[in-house]
Formats: sequence, C-alpha cells, structure tokens
Amino acid sequence: MQDLFDIEDPADGWREQLGPGTHWLHGFLVAEADSVMADIASVVAQAPYRHLVTPGGKTMSVAMSNCGEKGWVSDHTGYRYQTIDPLSSKPWPAMPPKLRLLAQEAAQRCGYADFAPTVCLINHYQPGARMGLHQDRDEKNLSAPIVSFSLGLPATFIWGGQQRVGKTQRIMLRHGDVVVWGGEDRLRFHGVAPLKDGEHALTGRARINVTFRQLGC
Ligand code: SIN
Ligand code: FE2
Repeated sequence: MQDLFDIEDPADGWREQLGPGTHWLHGFLVAEADSVMADIASVVAQAPYRHLVTPGGKTMSVAMSNCGEKGWVSDHTGYRYQTIDPLSSKPWPAMPPKLRLLAQEAAQRCGYADFAPTVCLINHYQPGARMGLHQDRDEKNLSAPIVSFSLGLPATFIWGGQQRVGKTQRIMLRHGDVVVWGGEDRLRFHGVAPLKDGEHALTGRARINVTFRQLGC
C-alpha cells in the first residue's frame, strides 16, 4: 500500500505528500529558475564551490557553498555551522532576499507558515556525484522544516525512514521541484543516487540543490 496522494493545484503544479510532514512541490520553481540561478551565481562568485572533506578523511563528490548567517562545513574535526567561510576567511555572502522569499513561500504552501531560514547550503552535483544517506541534524532548531530546491539535471532522491536501515523510497527530482520536510519527518534519512550524465539548458552538465535551514528559534 502506498500512502501517497496527489493534490492538483493548477497554479503551481502538483503537491504530493511523501510523509506526514513531507511535501513534494512539482515544478514550483520553474518560472523563477533564471532568477534563482542568478542569485546562486552571485553567491558562488563570492564563496566558490569546494569539495569538503569528511571527518573520516574522504573528499565529498558534491561541491558546496553557503549563504546566510552561517555556513555548513566539514573537515577532519567534524561537521558544523560557522560564520566564516574557511576558504575566504570572510563571512558567508548574505542570503539573497528573493531566494529566501521563495523558500518561505514553498514552506507556507506545505503548512509551515513561520519558516524563517537563516542559512542556505548550495550543493553542486556533477555526473557521478552522490550523497550518502544522512539526517540533517546539525541545526539547533529541529522544529523548523528543511526546504530543498532542485535545479538542472534530474536526480534520484532517496527518502528513507527514521533509521538508517529499512525501507526507502526513490523519487526523481526534476528541475524546479521543491521538497519540504519537517515535523515528525524532520530527521528522516535521505540521500541522492549518483547523478546520471546529461545536459541541461540552465545548468549544463550539473544539478544544483539548495537547502534552506533555520538554525535558531
Ligand atoms: C542534502 O541532503 O543536503 C541534499 C539533498 C539533495 O541534493 O537533494
Ligand atoms: Fe540533507
């Protein structure tokens, strides 16, 4: 039995529920994609994509940047959010207001009316890049949802459960899709399968994922 259901919303595509607190907004960003890409370009001009190293010493296949009050970083000492970009030794670029607004609109559409993102992690996937199953648990405020934007090449998103092992769902996230998860789904495991090669008019041979998080209260 599948517990998925679809709600047709002609103005913004489909909203599909993947769990009690998880929603998939199909094509939510398509009309805004140029402006989202321009905002991302302005962030990465100041804080370029880089491949971080995990505490275990592995170089991540996804390249990352951040904007907002803090940025998520990883090195041999662990994972954390910090105010300074270790590459430039400067604060991370501010979160572009339009990007922040879009994330809030997506959250509102999914019932998270008070979402006020403070940080934004930008992931750049080239063909073959992947992200292993993990929980987003470095944020102090676990009552706020995660809002995730997908742009460019499609990718298989792996949506798991509360435990690392067990049943997972695989969904294809396409250009312009948004996934929002919170409430009892906030700590569900998730990951991304190795990106298939392809070419996208806006991103080239790449997928860009932007996740918005609210660190404090
Ligand atoms: C993440 O979990 O940070 C990234 C998810 C994605 O790329 O869709
Ligand atoms: Fe994540």
